[in-house]
Amino acid sequence: MSNTYPLVSAPGREWWRSAVIYQIYPRSFADGNGDGMGDLKGITERLPALQELGVDAVWFSPFFKSPQKDAGYDVSDYKDIDPLFGTLQDFDIMLAEATKLGLRVIVDLVPNHSSDQHPLFQAALKAGKGSPERDMYMFRDGKGKNGEVPPNNWESVFGGPAWTRITEPNGELGQWYLHIFDSSQPDFNWRNDKVAEEFDDILRFWLDRGVAGFRIDVAHGMIKADGLPDVAVNNSTMTGVEKESEEPHPFWGQDGVHAINHRFRKIMDEYEDRAMCAEAWLPTIDKMALWVRPGEYHQTFNFGFMSADWNKSEYKDIVDESMDAFNGVGAPSTWVLSNHDTIRHATRMAYKSVPKQGDGIGPDYEQPDEAKGQRVARAASTFMLGLPGSSYIYQGEELGLPENTTMAPEFRQDPTFFRTKGERVGRDGCRVPLPWDANEKAFGFNQTGEAWLPQPELYKTYARNQQRGVAGSTLELYKRLLKLRREYDLGNGELVWAPEHSGETSLAYINNGVLVLANFDGPAIALPKGELLATTQHDLSIEEVLEHDQVAWIKL
Ligand code: NOJ
Repeated sequence: MSNTYPLVSAPGREWWRSAVIYQIYPRSFADGNGDGMGDLKGITERLPALQELGVDAVWFSPFFKSPQKDAGYDVSDYKDIDPLFGTLQDFDIMLAEATKLGLRVIVDLVPNHSSDQHPLFQAALKAGKGSPERDMYMFRDGKGKNGEVPPNNWESVFGGPAWTRITEPNGELGQWYLHIFDSSQPDFNWRNDKVAEEFDDILRFWLDRGVAGFRIDVAHGMIKADGLPDVAVNNSTMTGVEKESEEPHPFWGQDGVHAINHRFRKIMDEYEDRAMCAEAWLPTIDKMALWVRPGEYHQTFNFGFMSADWNKSEYKDIVDESMDAFNGVGAPSTWVLSNHDTIRHATRMAYKSVPKQGDGIGPDYEQPDEAKGQRVARAASTFMLGLPGSSYIYQGEELGLPENTTMAPEFRQDPTFFRTKGERVGRDGCRVPLPWDANEKAFGFNQTGEAWLPQPELYKTYARNQQRGVAGSTLELYKRLLKLRREYDLGNGELVWAPEHSGETSLAYINNGVLVLANFDGPAIALPKGELLATTQHDLSIEEVLEHDQVAWIKL
């Protein structure tokens, strides 16, 4: 199939309002040079699989120059590619190929912090207290008689204190610097205009190169409250507050961030048809919507489904609240079930409850019911992909790929694991190299069999070649849903609840004439009359009833 739709979208129907965006985690998508680490060459070769899947755009987790202390979210040069992944030329080749295939390319910008190896941080260390170089980051004197106590009680999202004390150029212990994440990720001081100017330049660098936009990392953390007051409750999450709390958190979701949103947006608007999506973990959907008001972000991640239980009322509430909040500011809602920071939904949904976001599941944890995870995850994805707005797919979820929940400690790489001395295993389980071909080394991830994280044996059954062309497979289900989504223009559609088709444990909505019916946990229900467009039931000939944990799309 050749993708002939234009890469410049019409006013009012901008691509980002309805796009299905596929997240590539470059370390684990495909490895072209066989060193066990994914790279741009490998990705370029495999892009046709994404065109075949039917997505509109691809978001790449960071591939910039980096010491890789947080898998690339610690950037030491924002305008170059890390040799692990290739070169700028490899990037240009990949971008050209993606464009040819009708896929837009979104890159991941990490403005809240840099690597401690970034020249600006190195200069700050050398320049000493009170220097303009130090003012690019968040340096403070410690408390206590000799400054030996951190400036406040903030904790890192990855565990442990959010402050590290440095040795000054004169060899004495000196100031502390803030790092909301790992100590190798010092936070920038976004109240300093020089920091903003640096990023103006970085945005333009990638926009000039032809990217369609950015996913902006930790967009809600860039401004810290004046005076850096203690936080009431440290809970090492990216939201920081409980859903009900209205307390302003000192480093998450501060009002001052909106000025940065406007600044970024002005730059985006200098270019045609570009978009940016905020990673802003905010406690309520209403708060998320403030980020996509006119003049700010085009999209923001709506993480509701990631923490929702698979039941009628939670799913309905999330959709209602999202439609209200995002429609209210003229922005599309986004939807997402999995990413590189959360337990893959094919595993998460096998449980009643799981460790909190970012903590992961290891071999000591109760192991999942694989069949249940598969069933519920397929259903949740099928419910999500029928919704208007923009949907995100995390690489491998189209295969129903489960988490690696049996990874031994010696393979762990996530700073969370080390900063909590293994108490929280972290996010490696969702970052394992993809299986492409059950019969090849490393399941086709490369040709040498190397893999930076171990692939569990069960990945063999999920390999793409085991599913391609197989009726009822998860891959064919996703392909069908995405094809129908395009055909019926569901991304731009309008959602209407269909109570006449819903029951006690089932929920139905209609979007552009397509009825999406979910049976959550009740007995089998009768399918309404109409043309069955898609069903999560493996046995595609079942056209009369819908079992529990199943979803169908019907043309009324
Ligand atoms: C959010 C990213 O998604 C995550 O992977 C990273 O560790 C933190 N931001 C810090 O950059």
